[in-house]
Amino acid sequence: MITENYYTFKILRYDAKEPDVEPHFESYRIKVVSGLTVLMVLLRIQEEIDGTLSFRSSCRSAVCGSCAMVINGKIDLACRTQVATFGSNTIVLEPLPNFEIIKDLVVDMTPFWNMYEKIRPYLIRTSPDPEKEIQQSEEERSRIDQVVNCILCACCYGACPVLSRDPEYAGPAAIAKLERFVLDSRDERPASALDAVNNEKGVWGCDTILRCIDACPKDVRPTDSVVGLRKKLIKNRLFGKGIK
Ligand code: SF4
Ligand code: SF4
Ligand code: FES
Repeated sequence: MITENYYTFKILRYDAKEPDVEPHFESYRIKVVSGLTVLMVLLRIQEEIDGTLSFRSSCRSAVCGSCAMVINGKIDLACRTQVATFGSNTIVLEPLPNFEIIKDLVVDMTPFWNMYEKIRPYLIRTSPDPEKEIQQSEEERSRIDQVVNCILCACCYGACPVLSRDPEYAGPAAIAKLERFVLDSRDERPASALDAVNNEKGVWGCDTILRCIDACPKDVRPTDSVVGLRKKLIKNRLFGKGIK
């Protein structure tokens, strides 16, 4: 049954180009039909009430990873969060933590992409190029089933307590992506590829308190990647068998 209710959306407003105006909340009261997502409400507020409100979005279906934010204290994608699922008629929206705010709900993702680039997130081969595509068995593909679902939304990065005290920490998404390629049967990167995360800014800096797993909207488990890479590093140190 379709129902309608009035909700108050309290949205954090800030413009880095006007640093004299402190971050503050502005409220918008709007009628919402059941089934409407937070993202649809934001689009309505922007179109009908306040065209200066800024946020990112694209696919509207939890695929592009651009609409991550804090919704009533929980980090999630605005496009997959239905307004009616909240008990309260007040919804508070804030930008992702651990990033600088550019404007309102839009944050500067540069540190996230820098970390991502550093782990070289693509297949690295040392063998000559094969004449046909490299096939994987079902078992080989199943090793990356979970990690491959990452949509680079940065929900995990925003939730990570280590990043809130050390911006140089590699972060859960980059570590999960590194493990995704290490586990890939087609990838031939050498054991030295893990040097970049074999330190306190990498896998040894993680508190392993699983907030990244709780925050991930795609059921990726970055903490498992941290632990998996730690095991590979120890095994390689003890037995020198590489990282596969
Ligand atoms: S488990 Fe590690 S990577 Fe994940 S949120 Fe905690 S400290 Fe960050
Ligand atoms: S691991 Fe999950 S939360 Fe982190 S960037 Fe990928 S999809 Fe988003
Ligand atoms: S708009 Fe693409 S993930 Fe939300």
